[in-house]
Amino acid sequence: MNTETLRAFTDAQRAIAIRRAVAELERGEVVALPTETVYGLGADALNADACLKIFAAKERPRFDPLIVHLPGHEFVDRITSIQSSSRDTIQALTRRFWPGPLTLVLPRAAIVPDVVTSGLETVAVRVSAHPVFAAVVSAFAKPIAAPSANRFGRISPTTAAHVHEELGGRIPLIIDAGPATHGIESTIVALREGKLFILRRGPVTEEQLAEFGSIVDQTKASGTVEAPGQLASHYAPRTPLKLVDSADDWEAPAGKRCGLLAWRSAGEEFALVRHLSRSGDLREAASNLFGMLRELDNADLDLIVAEAVPDHDLGSAIMDRLRRASAAREAD
Ligand code: TXA
Ligand code: MG
Repeated sequence: MNTETLRAFTDAQRAIAIRRAVAELERGEVVALPTETVYGLGADALNADACLKIFAAKERPRFDPLIVHLPGHEFVDRITSIQSSSRDTIQALTRRFWPGPLTLVLPRAAIVPDVVTSGLETVAVRVSAHPVFAAVVSAFAKPIAAPSANRFGRISPTTAAHVHEELGGRIPLIIDAGPATHGIESTIVALREGKLFILRRGPVTEEQLAEFGSIVDQTKASGTVEAPGQLASHYAPRTPLKLVDSADDWEAPAGKRCGLLAWRSAGEEFALVRHLSRSGDLREAASNLFGMLRELDNADLDLIVAEAVPDHDLGSAIMDRLRRASAAREAD
């Protein structure tokens, strides 16, 4: 399949790109779209055959459910069937964080195809704040199922070029609107018994969520995997990755080409160094994380060394991904 990339930078380009994206969605095709977190691979969420194409392009196992992106708040009641007891909390959360990088896992409505929820009784929903995504989903006027636009288990794409590297030849269209702002996937929260269960850390932090109810951290839960984003093997570069506190105290194995994903150290002795944020800004670090990991992964290194970042606020979301990336290779 020939994969076309359409740029959506000027108003004129945007108008064309949005029309093309909607046309693809309407004919039951998949299309890669920018969101404020990472690039997503979208399809008509109410069309099971279209959603199956997402699983095929990503080689995603069918047990891993998709996030449904809504055209607006009013779609919550069409796609989910929330209990009256949790309505106030949901409203408070969506008023504060939508449109934006918060995904809520709620009881599903019957209209949602099984393939989207992997047969679960819940569905994950969010409203994207990205202007191009928002324009596409509002012109389409129906929910769009969209996981990250990478092959299963791989690093999420934060640019259109990354999407092409992952899915070129497998999908008809990529809309390029420049690098994603946040650079890491949305925070996923399930609501149960009035509590907020964090299934995946992301741009909306635990600190921000705490005022909406008591928090249960499910991100380290092993055993039953509720969100396969929880699988240790997620976000994995092909190159082995080692997580260290400081690269200054770390000795490179002789004869190995090592790269550094740096937080504090200058890393002079490394073959290739990428600094997450020279000013120590966690937002900048998050937006650089996947692109830099991908660059290091493509540099023919024997080992990527990643320095720990502070484990609070957005840093916890970064650390979560670095731990999974390192765990994946240690398990090999
Ligand atoms: O920022 C994002 O969330 C991006 C953009 C494209 O929106 N999407 C994204 O989707 O990261 P994906 O598929 O890569 O990750 C979605 C995660 C998966 O780990 C999936 O298991 C979980 O959401 N998920 C989806 N539905 C769920 C459900 N009903 N219960 C629990 N987890 C669910
Ligand atoms: Mg993903």
